[in-house]
Amino acid sequence: MRVSLLLLICSVLASPIAGQQIWDIWSTTWDRSKLFTYTNLGPNPINFVSPGPIASADIVINDGTQFQPVYGFGGSLTDSSAKLLNNLKNSNSGTYNALLKYLFDPTDGANAAGLSYLRVPLGASDFSDTAYSYDDVSGDTSLSQFNVNKQPSYVFSVINDIRAINPYLKIHVLPWSPPGWMKDSGTVKGGNFLSQFTSQFAQYLLKSIQGFQSHGIPIYAISLQNEPQNSNPSYPTAKIAVDQEAQIGLALRTLLNNNGFSSTKIIGFDHNWSGAGSYAVQLMQQANSAFAGVAFHCYAGSVSSQDTFHNAFPDKEIYFTECSGTMGSDWWSDIKWNMDNLYIGSIEHNARAALEWNIALDGNGQPELPGSNSCGNPPCRGIVTISGNSYSPNQEFYSMAQASKAILPRDKNGPFGTRIGVNVGGSLNWALRVNACVTGRVNPSDWLRYSIVVLNWDDSASTSWNPQPVKTTIEFRGMQATYTFPVGVTTLWWYAPKTSGVQANAFGNDTIPTVHNITVSGTTVSPNHGVSHANATSTSSFISTSFSSNVPFTSAASSTASSKGASPSDIPPITVPDSAEAAGQNKQKPLFRFRRDAY
Ligand SMILES: *[C@@H]1O[C@H](CO)[C@@H](O)[C@H](O)[C@H]1NC(C)=O
Ligand SMILES: *[C@@H]1O[C@H](CO)[C@@H](O)[C@H](O)[C@H]1NC(C)=O
Ligand SMILES: *[C@@H]1O[C@H](CO)[C@@H](O)[C@H](O)[C@H]1NC(C)=O
Ligand SMILES: *[C@@H]1O[C@H](CO)[C@@H](O)[C@H](O)[C@H]1NC(C)=O
Repeated sequence: MRVSLLLLICSVLASPIAGQQIWDIWSTTWDRSKLFTYTNLGPNPINFVSPGPIASADIVINDGTQFQPVYGFGGSLTDSSAKLLNNLKNSNSGTYNALLKYLFDPTDGANAAGLSYLRVPLGASDFSDTAYSYDDVSGDTSLSQFNVNKQPSYVFSVINDIRAINPYLKIHVLPWSPPGWMKDSGTVKGGNFLSQFTSQFAQYLLKSIQGFQSHGIPIYAISLQNEPQNSNPSYPTAKIAVDQEAQIGLALRTLLNNNGFSSTKIIGFDHNWSGAGSYAVQLMQQANSAFAGVAFHCYAGSVSSQDTFHNAFPDKEIYFTECSGTMGSDWWSDIKWNMDNLYIGSIEHNARAALEWNIALDGNGQPELPGSNSCGNPPCRGIVTISGNSYSPNQEFYSMAQASKAILPRDKNGPFGTRIGVNVGGSLNWALRVNACVTGRVNPSDWLRYSIVVLNWDDSASTSWNPQPVKTTIEFRGMQATYTFPVGVTTLWWYAPKTSGVQANAFGNDTIPTVHNITVSGTTVSPNHGVSHANATSTSSFISTSFSSNVPFTSAASSTASSKGASPSDIPPITVPDSAEAAGQNKQKPLFRFRRDAY
């Protein structure tokens, strides 16, 4: 036993770890000269070689330590987002299809973000034409007037269009309010939930899931209430106390189990980071069996408080479900904030998904529910701005696209990535923020994909603007690669064989390990062993054709032109309001100063 173990270890160590090379790089740079731009290193890949001295920064991958699987990035398909997308579909279906593909196509090597996690309001939110629930008939305790089709039909059709592009899409639904008659206010706009309607509200949520099912839409997860600590009379909101949410959760869990939805997860809280150690923890204490986990928003507290919850309930899942960009903020400051706190930060703090608020809004942050004060000064910004027949992806898109590329399945029907151990050393270790993932393969003999997402924020933004590329060594299984990261966000990967310690968790639970060959541009290729990735997926030809013909980079393209080669004096000043209150709305990211002192 002991001898064979030793032999195994020796053979793993002695087997040549040659062949590990970096071919594929996606990057977004501070000056927008690269916007989620693919580079194939072609005949000159970066090789992992015997280690030399470390560079200014040294990324150390620890693939023996695995954390949570990551199911993806995305946003909320509000009524307003679906309406804008549907209008685009009606006026220019080609542009609509190109946009949906650019956002959601998960195909390995595609020039697309592959967003795979969609949050959908049940009934109205602050981004709807009117305030409604699925049953606004006061006192209808039998829910005989329940009608899921009060949701505009374009919400269902757009979801199904997205599902046709991304078969992995996870759909997470939740109400912004119970029906008004279940609350002390009598309206969906604000008020407190009345405990006497606990079983009716659980029934209402079951019927909502069945209603989505009637449109062919499977539900991955449901939260019981968006922001249960926020009551605002200007738009659909409700306060639901922790003991009330616990009882609703227990009732709904039983209903789901008895009606064929035992795999649909119930997620609790869905509100600010600042409630991680209180409401979120208390909910698990009171109704552990009902909830798979909790969800957080960015509007108060800090991402590190996700650890407070994780440490109290390490087996419960964490989702980061909402943060909104606001109009007029600085593009590169937002990229830094988003990567630091959300697309690297929340994942680093155990989240399985990280989402923005609206998928799409127009250039004025509309259409918002008339009278709502949730956004407006400044307006909220969608992941993509749709203006008439054109669209432009915003900084929120580029941030999450870079992170998404690191965790998408390598093979058709293969698993999503799992976060692994990584730390950064070297004299400039503060200049980089890094996440690392391993992605399993459908064919167990294929090499695993190792990917890193790297933010280089060494720009001296708070003193004298001076963006500095950082020469970095990457340490992996006793070998070393060297790459100089520009100021911006870079995603790159390489492949390596399984070792005895690594393969165990490389496959997520909810994956179907069926071998499918990959079809690219009419040729079928077998899933490769990762050594010459460039050949296996023909990414470069795919990129050059789809990028130029399908994607009208409207405002992004013009801002690229104007900021290319920008000198320090061209950099917009970084102005961030001191507090959410100062901005006069509640959808405002808090400003953190715990690392680089200005975003
Ligand atoms: C998922 O994996 C975990 C850890 O291996 C295991 O405990 C759990 O039972 C699995 N769940 C399913 C549904 O397979
Ligand atoms: C994939 O392609 C290989 C090589 O052409 C072939 O042997 C294999 O049967 C194919 N697998 C499937 C599932 O089509
Ligand atoms: C693989 O890529 C190399 C370098 O681009 C090229 O010379 C070779 O023909 C490619 N092989 C295949 C099978 O496409
Ligand atoms: C959390 O978020 C909302 C915005 O949705 C905000 O209005 C509220 O004041 C925040 N709550 C706390 C406790 O800070």
